[in-house]
Amino acid sequence: MQRIMFAALLGISGAALAEGGMLQKECSSCHNITGPVAQTLKEAFAKQGPDLSYAGNKYREEWIVSWLQKPVRIRPAGMYYGDHLKAGVKSDEIDTATLKDHAALSKADATKVAHELMELKPHNDLIAKEKIEPGSIIKQMGEMNFDKFWGCMACHLIEPEYGGLSGPEMYTAAKRLQPQFIASFIRNPQAWEPKTWMPNKQVSEGSIQKFVQYLDLLSKESANAK
Ligand code: HEC
Ligand code: HEC
Repeated sequence: MQRIMFAALLGISGAALAEGGMLQKECSSCHNITGPVAQTLKEAFAKQGPDLSYAGNKYREEWIVSWLQKPVRIRPAGMYYGDHLKAGVKSDEIDTATLKDHAALSKADATKVAHELMELKPHNDLIAKEKIEPGSIIKQMGEMNFDKFWGCMACHLIEPEYGGLSGPEMYTAAKRLQPQFIASFIRNPQAWEPKTWMPNKQVSEGSIQKFVQYLDLLSKESANAK
């Protein structure tokens, strides 16, 4: 009995020691760091946090550094929408009491961890396919594209409390994400996350460029609003 417990203890600390690093020890209970990404629905539902195994292809390093020091909610209903609903009077409401705050890191830890995350780049192939064309878009046009033409607003907020709740908020997306990732994810979400709920809408090249420009505009506006 005692020997089994001892082995179990050794197993845990042994693994942590072997992998070293804060990411493995303090983050991998909720985040996939080493890949592969969720391949089955069961794995996708079990996710406790977004997949970070392709973080270097996805995020802007400076955003990770600042967010980890002062984390704010990005997915209004948490990782899985269905877990945080309560029946509202008019429609379903998010039960914010069931959502937990993210742990904050010191500046030194945030900088170190962000640097490690940026080295995780299993999808340079997908990123290399994306060419971002310079240009800008009028806000109303971008919104029409996002809402009426492609139905993205069913799942994404384009302003605090305006839009759908099941996906990550979009008015900070360009601040968080690399433009090539935004283009690639819209083009084919399943190439990144085979079991994501986001549908592949077969968005045309022109509209992908417009989405990148629109999200850029939204992020600039929301930064100015603060
Ligand atoms: C208890 C589970 C849990 C632990 C432990 C945890 N995270 Fe998270 N993390 C989450 C959840 C849930 C989110 C999504 C937050 C949101 O959408 O509002 C998140 C979001 C993030 C994000 C933003 C990515 C994105 O797309 O939203 C980063 C970066 C991140 N975590 C890094 C870390 C690091 C680094 C550690 C370890 C020091 C860590 N996390 C530990 C649950 C966790
Ligand atoms: C049925 C709901 C749904 C629809 C419709 C939808 N999305 Fe998403 N979207 C999601 C979810 C959920 C994620 C998070 C990806 C994941 O982790 O599986 C996401 C992720 C994203 C991301 C990456 C954001 C991040 O922080 O990871 C972008 C960009 C995006 N969506 C844009 C769009 C655009 C543009 C459209 C319309 C063409 C669209 N989405 C339609 C649900 C949706």
